[in-house]
Formats: sequence, C-alpha cells, structure tokens
Amino acid sequence: MRLNKFLATAGIASRRKCEELIKNGEIKVNGQVVLNLATTIDEKKDKVEYKGGVLTLPSSFIYLKMNKPKGYASTSSDEKGRKTIFDLVEDKSVRLFNVGRLDYDTEGLILLTNDGDFANRVIHPKFEIEKEYMVTVEGKMQESEFAVLRKGAVVNGERMPEAKVKPISFDGKFTKLSVVITEGQNHQVRRMFEAIGRSIRLLKRVRIGQVRLGNLYRGKTKPLTEEEIKSFE
Ligand code: URA
Repeated sequence: MRLNKFLATAGIASRRKCEELIKNGEIKVNGQVVLNLATTIDEKKDKVEYKGGVLTLPSSFIYLKMNKPKGYASTSSDEKGRKTIFDLVEDKSVRLFNVGRLDYDTEGLILLTNDGDFANRVIHPKFEIEKEYMVTVEGKMQESEFAVLRKGAVVNGERMPEAKVKPISFDGKFTKLSVVITEGQNHQVRRMFEAIGRSIRLLKRVRIGQVRLGNLYRGKTKPLTEEEIKSFE
C-alpha cells in the first residue's frame, strides 16, 4: 500500500496532507525517516511512526449510516457536555469517527467509519460529492429567491457556492425544497437562507453521493452496502 494512503486510512489527514508530512520528514518507516512520496509499505509487517506513536490500521473496516436526530452533537466529545451521535451507536467496542458534521439542530444522514481515507474522500470538496438536504421554510418562497440560491447567495460579502434548488411543495404555510451542495462549509445551508432573509424550520440531510437516508428510523444506524462503499471510489 502507498504510504500516503496508509496514513490517510489510519486517520491522520487527507492523502494530500499526508504527502506533506512525508516531505517534511515527519514519518518514519522501520525506524528511518522516509521522504520519498512513492514509498510503499507492507501494512502487516512494516512499523510506521508519526509523532513518536506507532500507527496501525483497524483489523476490519466499518462503514455505517445513521439517521441523526435533532439535539445531538456530531462529535465524539462535546465541549458543552451535550449528547453526541456516538451515544446512539450500540457497539462501542470500535472507535469510529463521523464523516463530516451536521449541526446540533439538523437531522438526517451522517456516515460513521474507522477508515480515515474513506472519510476524506467523502468530505473533501475536490471530489464534489453531492449532499442533498430537505429544507422547510416558513412562507411561500418565490422563484427569484430560488434563483439567488442557485447562483450563490452572498453572505457577509462572500458568495456562497452554487446550489441545485428544487421546490417540492407549499402547503399554505411552509415551503419544502430540495437543496444540493457539493461543499461542506460550516452552517452552509442555514447561511444561504439567512442571506435571503429566510429562516429554516427543519433541515434534514437525505443523501450523500449515492447513499440515501431511506427509511432508517431516527437514532438508528445501518451498515453501508458494498455498492454504497464502492460508490465513493
Ligand atoms: N448546512 C447547515 O447549515 N447545517 C448542517 O447541519 C448541514 C449543512
């Protein structure tokens, strides 16, 4: 396995950033600093060290989807002591990490894994993985507002990335729409709507790439299928 892939899979950083670590002489293989980016290793036999610690890969990889309920932080330890999505994982024997984040008040699809390289491929903007949200907004939204969101709403003088926006329904009180983005800036969807003076009532992620939330119950997890895992390669 290429050394940068090994480091990314072990959860150090993206493959690109791991190349920087190699170039900076921060990685040792079998006691020697390696600087060659093309270095390959035998992950079963070779000893790889970073910051004085020996890195290992999990003996088996786990890939889960979760339907995150509102009122849970998507982090392993919340600085405010709030409940986290990891409280909802039944098997606590394996150390998993979340693939990206959802706000405390956002619900829906979030992925969990112990494969750092997989997590990077899903979240890095370079791979342009689509994230689809169902957004519920008070009042009837106008076509002109959809157009602003599609082109990229301006937030504090900064233009947000373009979005695919599709109205779904208006029930006399609330507009429901689908919003698809490929980046994952902090609070991106909420900021887009704030920029046009609309506040979001309900924000729910329903799809990441080809992986759909489907009918997974709130607070439940389910393993990804082989096909879903491969769809990010
Ligand atoms: N955009 C947001 O504003 N919040 C989320 O949780 C996800 C995307």
